[in-house]
Amino acid sequence: MPQYPPYERHVFICTNERPADNPRGSCKARGAEQVLQRFKDLVDQMKLKPKIRAQKCGCLDTCETGVSVVVYPEAVWYQRVAVADVDEIVQSHLVNGKPVERLRMHPMLPKDSGKVNPVGGA
Ligand code: FES
Repeated sequence: MPQYPPYERHVFICTNERPADNPRGSCKARGAEQVLQRFKDLVDQMKLKPKIRAQKCGCLDTCETGVSVVVYPEAVWYQRVAVADVDEIVQSHLVNGKPVERLRMHPMLPKDSGKVNPVGGA
């Protein structure tokens, strides 16, 4: 019988697409599919399953600063994520529990304690 919640960290990568002339733009047009694939490849290569899951999602409504990524349970949002940023997010945040501040969409939220919580840690 599966245990819930099944993941220690759950990553959602917006891959929404809009017409090219849409003023908001879209994450897909900014390389979201490549970002998603890099997350998935690293989760596989680093044998992070089943503790960590990375998956695509629809529009997160932060289109202008895409590619948009959000990590739960911390609810840390990232903006303008490029393929070159994914390794750092995986190693620093997903594995070691330390969000990548330079990519965060919001400043520290009140519920953030600053506590580092490594995956699989006590
Ligand atoms: S298109 Fe990605 S957040 Fe809206």
